[in-house]
Amino acid sequence: MSRTFTIITPDDWHLHLRDGAMLASVVGNTARRFRRAIVMPNLTPPVTTVSAALAYRERILDAAGVDTPFVPLMTLYLTDNTPAAEIHAAASEPAVQAVKLYPAGATTNSDSGVTDLARCMPALEAMAETGLPLLVHGEVTAPDVDIFDRERRFIDDILEPLSQRLESLKIVVEHITTRDAVDWVRSGRDGIAATITPQHILLNRNALFQGGLRPHVYCLPVLKAEQHREAVAEAAFSGEGRFFLGTDSAPHLRGDKESACGCAGIYSAPAGLELYVEAFDDAGALDRLEAFASLNGPRFYGLPVNEGRVHLREEHWQLPAVMPSGTGGELVPFRAGETIRWAITGVDPQ
Ligand code: DOR
Ligand code: ZN
Repeated sequence: MSRTFTIITPDDWHLHLRDGAMLASVVGNTARRFRRAIVMPNLTPPVTTVSAALAYRERILDAAGVDTPFVPLMTLYLTDNTPAAEIHAAASEPAVQAVKLYPAGATTNSDSGVTDLARCMPALEAMAETGLPLLVHGEVTAPDVDIFDRERRFIDDILEPLSQRLESLKIVVEHITTRDAVDWVRSGRDGIAATITPQHILLNRNALFQGGLRPHVYCLPVLKAEQHREAVAEAAFSGEGRFFLGTDSAPHLRGDKESACGCAGIYSAPAGLELYVEAFDDAGALDRLEAFASLNGPRFYGLPVNEGRVHLREEHWQLPAVMPSGTGGELVPFRAGETIRWAITGVDPQ
């Protein structure tokens, strides 16, 4: 008899859905597994206003189809010029749940990101006042800082002073990759949390160079050394309330990844829940997956816990080697062509 496992329907607290034809191709993978998702605003042009976020939300709902109960939770893209008034508008719009800070140049479509946090103080103060969380891509961008030190430097130089200056600002350090981030989040003041991706639980930086250069496991923040992977995985497996699920599934066309200057991003949505189930199971921590995937996120965001259930069975299935992008090119999912050991067998009414 194969083992079965049931959890309260989870949410994905960090997701890239893109737009247009690619959105239509990828959204179902998330909607079949997760009830809600925090949708990143790094489109071109970026989603900087409430009205742009609401229009994007409509496109997501259209693409997901009327039959799905999927709920996209929208975010605004913070710029040097985000007015406090836009933050107040966002805070009173339930469809918008957070604001995303991309340091300018840190990653995909971050050119309009923040060049100096001092310029954002009116917006950040409005967030602290209204309770709208700040979601952080936590890497400094100075080219002379070693890429493996960028997260730690961001915590020391930017996040710690910001968290002290605005004591009521809710902060999510997105896709943490280091022991330093785990320690900072764990020991921080109230209102600090982190999301954790499947790749940063499952892989260390050796995966980038296994037998050759592996563009499909290149993401930002980049995979780190084993001691950091261990710390991040242990934080996820702990079930502690400050750590929750965020896949950071980030599809790019195969040609844009397999390139002389390949894009960062791992398309994990096609097995977006099952990858975590495998990892938690291998660690003997399945009993803590529900906290990580379904309880901690809603508690942090002040949202209700989902009412439905997702049922899984230990059953092997194979991810396709490539998947459609809707735009003519292909997408290569995380663990393309490989066997996944847990399968979703049913989803109860939400
Ligand atoms: O690997 C990443 N891909 N990291 C990010 O921060 C952005 C994302 C994307 O949009 O492709
Ligand atoms: Zn992301």
